[in-house]
Amino acid sequence: MNRLAGKSALITGSARGIGRAFAEAYIAEGATVAIADIDFVRASDTAAALGPNAYPVLLDVTEQSSIDAAIRAVEEKTGGIDILINNAALFDLAPIVEITRASYDRLFSINVAGSLFMLQAAAKSMISRGKGGKIINMASQAGRRGEALVGVYCATKAAIISLTQSAGLDLIKHGINVNAIAPGVVDGEHWDGVDALFARHENLAPGEKKKQVGDAVPFGRMGRAEDLTGMAIFLASPEADYIVAQTYNVDGGNWMS
Ligand SMILES: NC(=O)c1ccc[n+]([C@@H]2O[C@H](COP(=O)([O-])OP(=O)(O)OC[C@H]3O[C@@H](n4cnc5c(N)ncnc54)[C@H](O)[C@@H]3O)[C@@H](O)[C@H]2O)c1
Repeated sequence: MNRLAGKSALITGSARGIGRAFAEAYIAEGATVAIADIDFVRASDTAAALGPNAYPVLLDVTEQSSIDAAIRAVEEKTGGIDILINNAALFDLAPIVEITRASYDRLFSINVAGSLFMLQAAAKSMISRGKGGKIINMASQAGRRGEALVGVYCATKAAIISLTQSAGLDLIKHGINVNAIAPGVVDGEHWDGVDALFARHENLAPGEKKKQVGDAVPFGRMGRAEDLTGMAIFLASPEADYIVAQTYNVDGGNWMS
């Protein structure tokens, strides 16, 4: 299909994982996609694998100069940005009494400040072009409630849900829709790392936490990146023009709100 024909998208953290799956799905719908990642080697490999409508962009969402350069690169390559997915994020895990300032600063700087200032830069570019746009933030079921060992990451994702509401309300007057997706547990390299952290903190065998969380999903298994692409395409399409400031759970039934 061609639901995103001619659209120019930038997806942060799309060298691998969910972001890469979004890029592949957007290209299949007719979009051109900037594979924007701090891992430029992998972003380049991913862009090469996805074909001529993907191109790599070096991006560190914690650096304003890098954010500005990435938006400029998209403007120069495609004439302007139509769609931003704020997807790059880091995870960490620690009991409350062991959380370090370094971990807190790192997660908030990438997950929250990184998403906010990417959103801001994309919105400024969209406003000056005058054609509106779509911004999709990656939240999480972790933003819907606290988790004993996941305090900082949960707080960053709750902040994403809140920023989606504020930015959604502020930017709709410019024809810019800001919404979010809240996945549950999605298998891949990210969850390999999460599994290893839980194994250490809960004294589990490798793979045990994945099995536990997969078994607990009402749908019957962990999510796959491909389970999220339908929502990401929909929210970027004209069919979602009247949807403003919302966060959608795509989690196999894990959470209802
Ligand atoms: N995997 C899950 O179970 C799950 C569940 C809920 C929400 N999410 C959210 O979905 C999004 C994607 O998750 P994923 O599983 O694909 O993660 P991932 O760890 O596989 O990919 C993250 C990407 O972000 C990049 N990145 C890291 N720091 C960066 C920076 N400073 N600037 C630019 N890029 C940077 C990494 O290089 C990597 O390519 C994240 O926002 C995550 O919080 C994931």
